[in-house]
Amino acid sequence: MPKPPLAIVVLAAGMGTRMRSEKPKVLHQIAGRSLLGHVLDAAEHLTPQHLIVVTGPDSETVRTEAAPHLCVTQQERLGTGHAAREALMPLKGFSGTVLILYGDTPLVTPSSLKRLARACENHSLAVATFTPQDPARYGRVALSPEGGIRAIIEYKDASAQERTISLCNGGLMAARTEVLRPWLAKLSNDNAQGEYYLTDLAHFAYQDAHPAAPIDFPENELLGINTRIELAQAEGLMQTRLREKAMLAGATLLDPQSTYLSFDTDLGQDTIVEPGCFFGPGVHVGAQGHIRANSHLEGCTLGENCIIGPFARLRPGTILERNVKIGNFVETKKASIAQGAKINHLSYIGDASLGTDVNVGAGTITCNYDGYSKYQTKIEEGAFIGSNSALVAPVTIGKNALVAAGSNITQNVPSGAIASTRIPQKNIAGAEARRRTQLNSKESK
Ligand code: UD1
Ligand code: MG
Repeated sequence: MPKPPLAIVVLAAGMGTRMRSEKPKVLHQIAGRSLLGHVLDAAEHLTPQHLIVVTGPDSETVRTEAAPHLCVTQQERLGTGHAAREALMPLKGFSGTVLILYGDTPLVTPSSLKRLARACENHSLAVATFTPQDPARYGRVALSPEGGIRAIIEYKDASAQERTISLCNGGLMAARTEVLRPWLAKLSNDNAQGEYYLTDLAHFAYQDAHPAAPIDFPENELLGINTRIELAQAEGLMQTRLREKAMLAGATLLDPQSTYLSFDTDLGQDTIVEPGCFFGPGVHVGAQGHIRANSHLEGCTLGENCIIGPFARLRPGTILERNVKIGNFVETKKASIAQGAKINHLSYIGDASLGTDVNVGAGTITCNYDGYSKYQTKIEEGAFIGSNSALVAPVTIGKNALVAAGSNITQNVPSGAIASTRIPQKNIAGAEARRRTQLNSKESK
């Protein structure tokens, strides 16, 4: 049988009052991506015919995050049922299954969503349910003796008796358009919160003698983020997921608990990550990498066999070819560094390109900024930069040239040349002995 057409709706217009934030709730991040971004990514895996995001009236930032997907504005936040009704507006001619997701439930996986959508092949409504360790303020799911859903009771509307029910509503549901449209049209807001509850659909299905199917989800996929505490829990769960994925793909994490990964961190086979490393978005590490303790990487690509840190900071736009060594207290930004180059200690290399086998001595700084613009430093292959040099950009150090330690380079250095800007050293014979004699005699007086 061909699969029924699928539309996915993501509700993301809620105020998120409990986050106590200036920022819309669904834009808070876990593992370097917004809650909404995680939900959209899972939704895209199902390749739906339509993907629609419901946003609030003043949520330009949410619409930007949702792009290129179609956004529908819910002018007044009148509840999840009202939001779903708004989402169906652009789906007038659509017939099939509608999967309704919440923008604040970021841990759902594509495989569970597929299960939920498929349940609509035999039921007009299917609801994601779970039995959390702490049912907290989730809606409670009351089952009929036959095992279908009789009703979902919101926590604020539930009696003490109903609050003892351990089966909870995860918020996500799938419905056939034939029933969804008429049911959404007849929702009322006569309840504790004065809102149109999407959850009332479950009781309509029961009344129509087609009870909704409860589809059991793993607890950690249905964590709904309403507070910063839940945000931290979601971060922890997502980190565990990402660490396990990285290890199964062949990376060694010496201390997984202290390794922070982003949703897209890509660690090459046989890469070793020492404790305390943080990977922001957009990091690709080639095979056999070694990321030593307490390094911070974001937006960078590393070829095979690079050794980074300890205590290194690779900022966006850092591109390392193979066999590059970046040592302790080195910061790089927008820097292309060719094979075999070494920057082993205490340097800043920004807006720069370094050729093959360049060696940068301790304390070298590319002075890339004059307070107005950024300028490029080019260090050609085989050049050697002595310690404590300042390379004032724009400047080029030619192939196999040498910059003497302590130099302040403001002009290009030709290939093969030695550049030195040191003031010649002067040794004054016996001067220190005379100084000490003078000071000692002053002290004794
Ligand atoms: C909702 C469910 C509850 C479930 C829980 C799971 C309802 C009435 N309750 O409660 O049964 O256990 O999720 O996490 O559905 N939203 C809008 N427009 C609105 C209101 C909300 O778009 O007018 C969006 C929010 O942005 C959010 C989602 O809908 O992404 C859920 O809203 P929220 O207020 O968090 O509902 P809960 O109280 O968590
Ligand atoms: Mg919620």
